[in-house]
Amino acid sequence: MYPLKYIEPVFRPPSEWKSLILQVTNGCSWNRCSFCDMYSADDKKFKPKKIDLIEQEIKLVAQSGISTSRVFLADGDAMMLPFKRLKEILLLIKEYLPRVNRVSSYCLPRNLSNKTVEQLSELNDLGLKLMYVGCESGDDKVLELIDKGETYNSSLIALNKIKQSGMKSSVMILNGLGGPEFSKQHAINSARLMNEAQPDYLSTLVVSFPLGEERFAAKFTEANCQPFRQLNQNELFTEMEVLLTQLELTKTIFRSDHASNYLVLKGILGKDKDSLLNQVRGALNQPKSAGLRQEWQRGL
Ligand SMILES: C[S@@+](CC[C@H](N)C(=O)[O-])C[C@H]1O[C@@H](n2cnc3c(N)ncnc32)[C@H](O)[C@@H]1O
Ligand code: SF4
Repeated sequence: MYPLKYIEPVFRPPSEWKSLILQVTNGCSWNRCSFCDMYSADDKKFKPKKIDLIEQEIKLVAQSGISTSRVFLADGDAMMLPFKRLKEILLLIKEYLPRVNRVSSYCLPRNLSNKTVEQLSELNDLGLKLMYVGCESGDDKVLELIDKGETYNSSLIALNKIKQSGMKSSVMILNGLGGPEFSKQHAINSARLMNEAQPDYLSTLVVSFPLGEERFAAKFTEANCQPFRQLNQNELFTEMEVLLTQLELTKTIFRSDHASNYLVLKGILGKDKDSLLNQVRGALNQPKSAGLRQEWQRGL
């Protein structure tokens, strides 16, 4: 274990399980997405950590002798820090943890609006290699209903900036996010966004409400939409079928293996598109023999 004290809970992408989690900010600077309760506890109020404290923590890890090649900057959107602060942090990592060859972070599209491609390239050269972007949807109506504070265009601009800077992007899309009324347009426009952006990684998660769905559903009612309800398995797979059918990706690692998914899918798009579609259709036509996760095996 790393000798660091965290303000819990701490979230990280599943693929960062081996990384040193460096909590350079607490919470999420936006914290309004109506499906997300991750940073809603009182002591998770957004706050950047002081640079002296970050330096002390990096030194502590170095002194512990634990070797690490990857660092994940937590919490929810460490990329909201200004360019200069991010540069300082990356220089400290280089100085004290010279074996680190990949630093990554969650990133909201708007976190990049005050950073140029040149600045992002500089951060990339200093080791910041991968941005996890929770686009959640490419459909503007759904994005408005979930209060993401982003649009198709703002998401695309950020994903293009990431690509131009030489960093990699890993995008999350939420299956079931628009309920039955917006399922089809959510899938079609999310695919359209991915086709334009061509991210390096794409993962889908099923939207889940461990603390209840009232806050989320209220937005649909306020906007005079059909009342929100969670999609059933069949509807979730149908949405996935539309998404995969519409996706025209050339070299994107696709994963739908997060614990929230009933059906585990993994492949490279476009090469594995037919095989992934066959698996989704198998789950639609013969769910009993599709090896689906049981309800008790799922989680967020
Ligand atoms: C810890 S959040 C940080 C992401 C980052 N702030 C952003 O918005 O890009 C990581 C991801 O978890 C997923 N997530 C959060 N709440 C969820 C929920 N209720 N159901 C399913 N996925 C959820 C979303 O895809 C979100 O982008
Ligand atoms: S999804 Fe991301 S931006 Fe939205 S509230 Fe959660 S952590 Fe913040």
